[in-house]
Amino acid sequence: MNKVKITETVLRDAHQSLIATRMKTEEMSPILETLDQVGYHSLEVWGGATFDACLRFLNEDPWERLRLIRKSVKNTKLQMLLRGQNLLGYKHYADDIVTEFVKKSIANGIDIIRIFDALNDVRNLETALNTTKKEGGHAQTAISYTISPVHNTEYYIKVAKQMEDMGADSICIKDMSGILTPYNAFELVTKLKETVKIPLQLHTHYTSGVASMTYLKAIEAGVDVVDCAISPMALGTSQPPTEPLVATLQGTGYDTGLKLEVLNQVAEHFRPIRDRYMEKGMLDPKVLGVDVNALIYQVPGGMLSNLVSQLKMQNALHQYDEVLKEVPRVREDLGYPPLVTPLSQMVGTQAVFNVVLGERYKMVPKEIKAYVKGEYGKPAVEISESIKHKIIGAEETIHCRPADLIEPQLESVRNEMKQYLEQEEDVLSYALFPAVAIEFFKYRQAQKYKIDSNYADFENKNYPV
Ligand code: CO
Repeated sequence: MNKVKITETVLRDAHQSLIATRMKTEEMSPILETLDQVGYHSLEVWGGATFDACLRFLNEDPWERLRLIRKSVKNTKLQMLLRGQNLLGYKHYADDIVTEFVKKSIANGIDIIRIFDALNDVRNLETALNTTKKEGGHAQTAISYTISPVHNTEYYIKVAKQMEDMGADSICIKDMSGILTPYNAFELVTKLKETVKIPLQLHTHYTSGVASMTYLKAIEAGVDVVDCAISPMALGTSQPPTEPLVATLQGTGYDTGLKLEVLNQVAEHFRPIRDRYMEKGMLDPKVLGVDVNALIYQVPGGMLSNLVSQLKMQNALHQYDEVLKEVPRVREDLGYPPLVTPLSQMVGTQAVFNVVLGERYKMVPKEIKAYVKGEYGKPAVEISESIKHKIIGAEETIHCRPADLIEPQLESVRNEMKQYLEQEEDVLSYALFPAVAIEFFKYRQAQKYKIDSNYADFENKNYPV
């Protein structure tokens, strides 16, 4: 029996999953030192959608947030989520951008980088993984978990072995949809622990209501670390709550050693924040319930709400059930990609097009065309010739690591944005989200100007000294 360790997700995945990533740095700052006292394995604080949300919705510099968290969290490891060669964006970037991004993430305070690829094509993890290790970080590779005729235990064992051979420091089973059920988790963790020597972590969501049971069985099978969220920001589409798991394991050989009293201080901080988002309508009580569709269709929670809004825009909400049934068919056609960003959005959009237009693949988004050409990597199953033909006609497909075909981008990106440059990190913000970053840079300049002009006003008033 091993003591179980906990990664706390409240500053990243929990609010990404419940309130569209809108938590502000000022809502985090007062509790950082307490969080540091809890004794977590790590705090997940950065990456995923937080970067985009900071710039786009909060007028915050994500790098500044990271530095501020690092300043207050002196002992606990800080963790982030990175989409391999996609970084925090939605397309593949050149190796020089990926390398620079990882370097700067670690230089600004990140200890552990969880790196995943939507297709589990490990070639897309190479650059981020190698740079993380070179910069002294902990490179955790994540297996995107899904269910399909080919995604069985043997498949996961093969991927995990590849990751260990590449030099991963630990492996995470990333169940973004909350579809890993307790006994399947027991079998999967048991087999993976027999296969790899590096630590194993489990990440899931409460969407379908099984997550705490899944953790308990995974713990019995020997999983080393699990991802939880402090109770006010847990459950529903977020992670299992931290406190009940800590209480469950207390006094057993799995005891986490965390103190419920300290956890309660953390919970007390987030309770009013949660209430505020509930009152504003940002936290929809609907996402806190059990979603059985997640178990039936293996569709992640966020994707379901996206489908609803896409259908509303087309005045086609009555076709929701049809779209739900079309999603698995599109997945099958495309070689069973796991439904995680960016594939979840792509498959969902294609399913909506197929149903609303009344003809399958009559219209195909350019991202799906690129995917079929091989520009996202290799799916678990080869796409059939007939589907390929339907989507890209006679166009050629690629078989190498997609980033091998991308020229270095860093210098040209720097040139494009240099008038706004205040710190080297700005180049990366711009590389990932050009339009959004420019808006933010302008806002930042305006803020400065405001302060300067106030100061000037003050000087002009000839106050006695
Ligand atoms: Co997640």
